Amino acid sequence: MSRTPLVAANWKMNSPPSGWDAPDSPYRPQPGVDVIVFPELQDVTVCKNAGLHTGAQYGRPEPSGAFTGDVSMAQLKELGATRVLCGHSERRQHHGETDAFIAAQVQAALGVGLIPILCIGETAAEREAGKAQEVVKNQLSVLLTTDHSLLTPLVLAYEPVWAIGTGKTATPEDAQEMHVYIRKLLPDTLKDIRIIYGGSVKPTTAPDLIAQPDVDGFLVGGASLIPDDFRTIVEAVTRSS
Ligand code: PGA
Repeated sequence: MSRTPLVAANWKMNSPPSGWDAPDSPYRPQPGVDVIVFPELQDVTVCKNAGLHTGAQYGRPEPSGAFTGDVSMAQLKELGATRVLCGHSERRQHHGETDAFIAAQVQAALGVGLIPILCIGETAAEREAGKAQEVVKNQLSVLLTTDHSLLTPLVLAYEPVWAIGTGKTATPEDAQEMHVYIRKLLPDTLKDIRIIYGGSVKPTTAPDLIAQPDVDGFLVGGASLIPDDFRTIVEAVTRSS
């Protein structure tokens, strides 16, 4: 079964790049590929109103309560988000997000009709110790104990931590091997979900990565802030599909 590729721009704590809302902006919806932007929270509504498919970078599982500074999944939806990143390694690292918390985020997102993009991936030390697959399996395990039938809109992003923002990209072979491994871990109801790759994706590395049969697109950080680079990456994905 062929899967529509997905290219996500994770702008992190940065303003939208200049020209983001131009008529020929590479961040706009395009045929044959799902292009989604993940701006800072205060830019979600303006991006959505400009016609971009827009997600949020974070949402809390609880629907309301005493969580100063946080935002609920329902509130993200009201702002115009249709997707939400869950478990990005920067959130795991800087905010202590656990696999149980992240599984609750995924469930809460689905509960209000947001599509979660769940990020998983090992650190350099874990890879060097030969534990990359074990780490990824553990990161998925809490989620996979929940009701699978509700999880079908889910997108997974394999993002090796050592590759994020470092300029080191996984080789196409390593990415393919891990994506196949991840797909094997999934129950039958989820076998056709998209598994995208993230970690220093650049115009130079995108073509060989997307040529891998189990790489269904990209989560792009640094290069998504450079419109020409992002355009080249989206074009590589479109050409390969
Ligand atoms: P990067 O970021 O492309 O700058 O490595 C990817 C990410 O954090 O999702």
